[in-house]
Amino acid sequence: MARYIVEPGAAVAGRLRVPGDKSISHRALMFGALAAGTTRVTGFLEGEDCLSTLKAVASLGVTVERPVPGEVRVEGVGLRGLRDPGGVLDMGNAGTAMRLFMGLLAAQPFDSELVGDASLMRRPMERVAKPLRSMGAVIETQDGRPPVRIRGGATLSGIHYDMPVASAQVKSAVMLAGMYAEGETTVVEPAITRDHTERMMQTFGVEVVARGGKVTVRPPGRLEAADIAVPGDFSSAAFFIVAACIGAREPMVIEGVGVNPTRTGLLEMLALMGADLRLVNHRTAGAEPVADIEIRPAQLRGARIPERLVPLAIDEFPALFVAAACAEGETLVTGAEELRVKESDRIAVMARGLDAVGVRNEVLPDGLRIEGGPIGGGVVDSHGDHRIAMSFAVAGLRASAPIEILDVANVATSFPGFADLARGAGIRLREAD
Ligand code: S3P
Repeated sequence: MARYIVEPGAAVAGRLRVPGDKSISHRALMFGALAAGTTRVTGFLEGEDCLSTLKAVASLGVTVERPVPGEVRVEGVGLRGLRDPGGVLDMGNAGTAMRLFMGLLAAQPFDSELVGDASLMRRPMERVAKPLRSMGAVIETQDGRPPVRIRGGATLSGIHYDMPVASAQVKSAVMLAGMYAEGETTVVEPAITRDHTERMMQTFGVEVVARGGKVTVRPPGRLEAADIAVPGDFSSAAFFIVAACIGAREPMVIEGVGVNPTRTGLLEMLALMGADLRLVNHRTAGAEPVADIEIRPAQLRGARIPERLVPLAIDEFPALFVAAACAEGETLVTGAEELRVKESDRIAVMARGLDAVGVRNEVLPDGLRIEGGPIGGGVVDSHGDHRIAMSFAVAGLRASAPIEILDVANVATSFPGFADLARGAGIRLREAD
């Protein structure tokens, strides 16, 4: 089983770039597939999750070419041009792929079945199946989890859906199905979540009205192909933002990062903890804002994390917990029960990892209380969760002895090249089998 061994006593420095955004890469493939014409995607994330989406799109009869690394050309087949894949679609570790495809496939004339790896097969899918059923879709889950079986040929009607959980995946699945429904579809979120689907639908010419947590989609006649430049993934940058806060001796810069405000809650949280962060060189990549992030070393202090920020940083908690472990005093996170249904139960698995390296913490039903203090060495089981593996690699910067991190192969789902980039920045990380 793949492991990282991180030696203590290192510092990070320099300017770096992280790979393309995972959420935007998945969506670019899906919308490109449904468009009329060729969609060219640059900065595409060649992580395993997006490659699962790419394979699925190809199985649905769409020609996808990869002329050079990081570039994808999708020959769109039009809204009604997808073909029966003739077999099960395997989403690997990718929750986003499975949930968004549920919305898309619910509206197709053929049957489909979605499966995934052991982690994905444990994740909740009824949160997507329920609203789709109320649109007229015929979907079965197994005790709420995959495999997901979708009966083709359903006629969908637009709905008004008050979403019980703040989830961009659920919102996006309903919006995708809404493109095929009779009448308009509205989703109301209990808290703002990432809005990449709204932005990308507009790029492809779909009429979407989004305001104050309410999104309405009107079924389009067709989607127009587009050029999509994918920005660096803020969720991947997060590991180096925290690394710079806790382990740099001089300013560090992460270039070309997507800074969509529905994604950057971590910056606000770290600022509350005393971090010295600046966004510079603002520009846009299509519909998405991009900037360079400058981080200067600063002593962090513990903070009570406002619950309103939770959905804006939902993937960044493993990294935030490591920042909290390095802060002076206590950090309290609540209102984050969604962390329990990510690639792992991120509250339980992070708490065990922090225990293993001597960081005092208390598990709460919906969060974690962390007492900042010295970090020791130890063996941490990431439970195959990419973000937990990378977070403890960063924690090694402040450890007093080596940290061994188990089950790290899934880092390749979201951040291919992480180990090389981390070493280039100064983290003393070794890979072992
Ligand atoms: C994502 C939404 C979030 C996030 C995931 C990507 C997306 O999931 O955790 O990594 O691309 O829509 P939820 O919708 O379950 O919060």
